[in-house]
Amino acid sequence: MDAIVTRGLGKVFKEIGKPKVRSLDSLDLTIRKHEVFGFLGRNGAGKTTTIKILCSLLKPTAGEAFAFGENVRTRRARRLIGYLPEQPYFYEYLTPRETLDFYGQLQGLGPAERAREWDKLSEMLDLRDIAAQRIKGFSKGMRQRVGFAVALVGDPPLLILDEPMSGLDPIGRRNIRELILRMRDENKTLFFSSHVLADVEQVCDRVGILVKGRLVRQGRIDELLGKKTAGVEVVATGLDTSAVAALKATCESHRALDELERFTFADPEAGNRAARMVLEQGGKLVELNPLRETLEDYFMREQRPDERTGVMS
Ligand SMILES: Nc1ncnc2c1ncn2[C@@H]1O[C@H](COP(=O)(O)OP(=O)(O)OP(=O)(O)O)[C@@H](O)[C@H]1O
Ligand SMILES: [Mg+2]
Repeated sequence: MDAIVTRGLGKVFKEIGKPKVRSLDSLDLTIRKHEVFGFLGRNGAGKTTTIKILCSLLKPTAGEAFAFGENVRTRRARRLIGYLPEQPYFYEYLTPRETLDFYGQLQGLGPAERAREWDKLSEMLDLRDIAAQRIKGFSKGMRQRVGFAVALVGDPPLLILDEPMSGLDPIGRRNIRELILRMRDENKTLFFSSHVLADVEQVCDRVGILVKGRLVRQGRIDELLGKKTAGVEVVATGLDTSAVAALKATCESHRALDELERFTFADPEAGNRAARMVLEQGGKLVELNPLRETLEDYFMREQRPDERTGVMS
């Protein structure tokens, strides 16, 4: 049984006197159990729309979505999903402890269970020190921790997180990343959207890329990026100026720093020839680095055709 399945999911927003907005178009997604899936797309691509449909906060205008085989609009499905909104909303006058207690009550947990949930989640999200403070004065990072704890109340097997790392400093981002990995180790399924490509690259088993409401790619990160390298970097030292000039004439880019000459080549063969030339010229080869395409490069490349024509293959 897959954790999330969507079939032909679509959403058109209609407002009187305004043109229709198609935010989601024929989305077919399958997220397997225990998978960490990253949902990528630029502002307005339709990530939040998808997530709200999965969490039954929006009704699709086409298609359907299931969580563990249950239609997401049923109560049974909703109990299986923990949700962290893009901008978590809280009752500002409650404390984190009261907030978790409130969500525990909504889920029908008894007092003893709610106390256990608090013990576990306050430790996991480092809420002990702020347990009795009103949320009103909390920073973005503190709010995100409370929001994450709310998503985890009742131990749902599926977590749907809308930009869980946005607006956080590097330490805050790392904490969320570690939490995602911890949840994965607890056999949960995670579906999250993000702009922070490096974070997606580090924690996701698979990613999907959404462009203007359409899923243009999905797959394992290494499959999407392929095994192919984006070039080679040759790092050398001990070259005289004429040798440097000769190498510069054939390379893509050159940088000299601290005695080291760095040349990059898009064509690996050209890189090999350069390495041979370094040795022939009496220089020393310090490093020969394959330049791998990053998810960021891929993402940028995928965006371009869309920006040119508005149509993706
Ligand atoms: N309630 C609404 N009424 C009309 N249009 C909407 C509504 N909600 C979203 N949209 C439109 O749907 C499209 C997708 O929005 P969505 O919020 O899903 O994007 P997103 O990928 O989450 O973007 P971001 O990265 O900025 O959060 C946008 O063009 C947006 O303007
Ligand atoms: Mg969004």
